[in-house]
Amino acid sequence: LPVEKTVTFSIVAHVDHGKSSLAQRLLEMYGNIASTDAVGQSALDTLDVERERGITVKAVTASMLVGEYLVNLVDTPGHADFAHEVRRSLGACDGALLLVDASQGIEAQTLKVAAAARAAGVPLVCAASKIDLPTADAVEVALELAALEFTKDPEDVLYVSAKSGDGVDGVMPAIIDAFKQPADDRRARPTRCRVLDGRYDITRGVVAVIQCVDGSLREGDRIAFLGGDGKEHTVQELGLLTPAHHRTGFLNAGCVGYLVAGLRDVRQARVGDTLCLATERDRLEPVDPLPPATQPGLFASVFPPDGGLFDEMSRAVDRLALNDASVTVRREAKARPTLGAGLRLGFLGLLHMDVFRQRLRDEFGAEVLFTSPTVPYKVRWKDGNVTTLEALDDWPDAAQLSREVSDILEPVVDIEVVTPREHVGACLEHLETARAQQTGIESTLDGRSIIACAAPWASVVDGLGERLAHASRGHATLAVDELPRYEAADVAKVDVLLNGEPVEALAFAARSADARDRGRRAVEKLRRHVPRQLFECIIQARVNGAVVARARIAPLRKDVLTTGGSKAVLGKDRKKKLLEKQKRGKARQKTIGKVALGQDALWAVVGS
Ligand code: GTP
Repeated sequence: LPVEKTVTFSIVAHVDHGKSSLAQRLLEMYGNIASTDAVGQSALDTLDVERERGITVKAVTASMLVGEYLVNLVDTPGHADFAHEVRRSLGACDGALLLVDASQGIEAQTLKVAAAARAAGVPLVCAASKIDLPTADAVEVALELAALEFTKDPEDVLYVSAKSGDGVDGVMPAIIDAFKQPADDRRARPTRCRVLDGRYDITRGVVAVIQCVDGSLREGDRIAFLGGDGKEHTVQELGLLTPAHHRTGFLNAGCVGYLVAGLRDVRQARVGDTLCLATERDRLEPVDPLPPATQPGLFASVFPPDGGLFDEMSRAVDRLALNDASVTVRREAKARPTLGAGLRLGFLGLLHMDVFRQRLRDEFGAEVLFTSPTVPYKVRWKDGNVTTLEALDDWPDAAQLSREVSDILEPVVDIEVVTPREHVGACLEHLETARAQQTGIESTLDGRSIIACAAPWASVVDGLGERLAHASRGHATLAVDELPRYEAADVAKVDVLLNGEPVEALAFAARSADARDRGRRAVEKLRRHVPRQLFECIIQARVNGAVVARARIAPLRKDVLTTGGSKAVLGKDRKKKLLEKQKRGKARQKTIGKVALGQDALWAVVGS
């Protein structure tokens, strides 16, 4: 490229504050790479008309020519469940554009992404968005941004509307002015590229988004990953993202683009990895390493609707995991008597899990059973060792608990809640129930409060966000910060038993003080879903070996051909239908403690 000057930035914002819309506007205004000769070849020859499947309007990583600058807009990962993930991708940027919806004001995620940028040492340009809305108050947003010290001077805040286009032309000049880097000799240095993203393409293998930090890379080059598996790969295809693939055959220092090098697994090119020329592998250091990847924040098991479909479901999970290095997949150590073979999946957070679940349904073409998610607890043993409990099966038994365990540790995260002042009381009540420890409270200029807390991650996973939103008529927003830290907690595992046999998929962890209550609720839930049988059925909840709740379902004496206790004689057709239905039902039934439980009933109880 005849462009020596580059700027790389990212747009960060609270959900729905207009990130994608502004990115689209900027692309319309400057999406000019494919239509100019700047790449030194005829535009028509290289125009890659193939709209990549993975590139949606939502996720735009694109380069644009703005005057003498090549400006790379890098998308932050979709599953920004942890501010940590945003910080990782910001680590590759010269700066970030912080958008705040002028009709909404600052929200919890605004604070988190701004804090993440600050922690990554990334400067901010601030903008009030959606200024066309009649309820917009851009001046107030600007004052607020200055009060929070996200900008030095409220005068520096840009006012934009992606809808009307107002102010959009001022965005790029401000970005370039604020984030331009001093000229240096990056291009003369040995080649180092950093992986920013990757996805799997059926025909080409892994298509990675990379940032060329030093030197340059060309098609045909032999490359290797620093600290990787030592394998060498040949660069097959290189180009810019517009955001469609625009093949250039090379990338120079400062460029962000795509790379195809015959990799078959996204895990071979993880976000943050450094790649270099294979011959220089031994003499180079990684590019400033990005903060380490987050460990899974919660685990859930998936089971196929029918045991025979396990292999098919596994293949669907693997195909999806190919595109998301932050999902961990492990085959359940033992098949569950109730649910058969399953997979244990690790996710960053709830949003991440939900997205995966939706994709799995599409990919697999059928509903799968997701158990309710559990957070990873840890055990500190008396000998000083600490182990992680990914699954409740690993929970120490009553004997171990009394003799060998020193503490059960639970993940605790910092959270921030932004709410209109009149709902502070209701929010604080919910926070207290969730065992959140308040660490601070501040007021915003527009009459809202920012409540900072340390809360058990399990409470957040258990729907704290929805409860706060409900308590504040939809106004309160919650954001979760950082990596969890582990603190000793008084938690216990609750087992649910059907005629003396544990229903493993129903086990859960609860605060000891709540264990009895929650055990009782689980028993009640199961009682409602277990159909009466021909024999007596006992449901129990057990905490540390002691029964805390019990329910009995009386035996049933009548057969299916009598309805509702009446002796009414059924018509022939109806009789046939009932018998057929019963037969179908049987095929899908699972037997627990001799109790036949229909798939639907089991799912209603086990599913999250
Ligand atoms: P997420 O990716 O889901 O976080 O959303 P986002 O931040 O990318 O926001 P997006 O661009 O999808 O916009 C959210 C909503 O606001 C959409 O309904 C847009 O149509 C609307 N919107 C975005 N920009 C403007 C604007 O300038 N004016 C008005 N009136 N609406 C806008």
